[in-house]
Amino acid sequence: MPKRIAVLASGRGSNLEALYAHFTHRAPADAQIALVASDKRDAGALAFAERNGIPAVALEMGAGHAAALATVLATHRIDLVALAGYLRLVPAEIVRAYRGRIVNVHPALLPAFGGKGMYGERVHQAVLAAGARVTGVTVHFVDEVYDRGATIAQWPVPVFSDDTVHTLAARVLRVEHRLFPHALAAVARGEIRLTDDGRADGAPYRARPDAAFALGTPEDDDLARNIAAAFAR
Ligand code: GRF
Repeated sequence: MPKRIAVLASGRGSNLEALYAHFTHRAPADAQIALVASDKRDAGALAFAERNGIPAVALEMGAGHAAALATVLATHRIDLVALAGYLRLVPAEIVRAYRGRIVNVHPALLPAFGGKGMYGERVHQAVLAAGARVTGVTVHFVDEVYDRGATIAQWPVPVFSDDTVHTLAARVLRVEHRLFPHALAAVARGEIRLTDDGRADGAPYRARPDAAFALGTPEDDDLARNIAAAFAR
């Protein structure tokens, strides 16, 4: 049975679109997007869900938030939760109830450039301000602390000397869109799982980082192929 995924997103939802395309067209046996929920009523992610017939829920914030989220996830019989540009901390009781079943994408190589307040353009601003030559994408299991859980997958992205926040964000986002679906699919298939001592068992170490450095001349096909190869058994 395909796993039922809830995507939590606060923004425009381009990662949601990438996940939806992957599980609808390429890997429907692994999972389906069964719910989209957002802390923002006007999130592009909710509009995308509505256009595509996916149940879409604007989450209640404030005191009853954790209980309301638990109810929504249970009602939609959710197996896995994907955070795709979700800016809120997931309540501890939800993390406990779904341990090893909540996955986040972060637009940098954690533990660098992560943590509370490090989201969206701020991440890329900090990367440029630090003069970092390499950044990337991290997919990780979610625990009680922002951006801290076990790493499932990372992929490097070069920083060029003439990069702006926007050129860098766009290059990183292309990798997010390719890495996140594969990493989540591997979790859905049970090939990567969170161990009791907090490691991501089965996470691949066969990524070919050199491939990402061809990104200056956007070799999207190479990138997609190399990411897929890293997850091939
Ligand atoms: C992505 O860069 C994601 O990694 C970060 O926020 C951005 C969300 O973009 N946490 P989108 O809403 O998926 O388009």
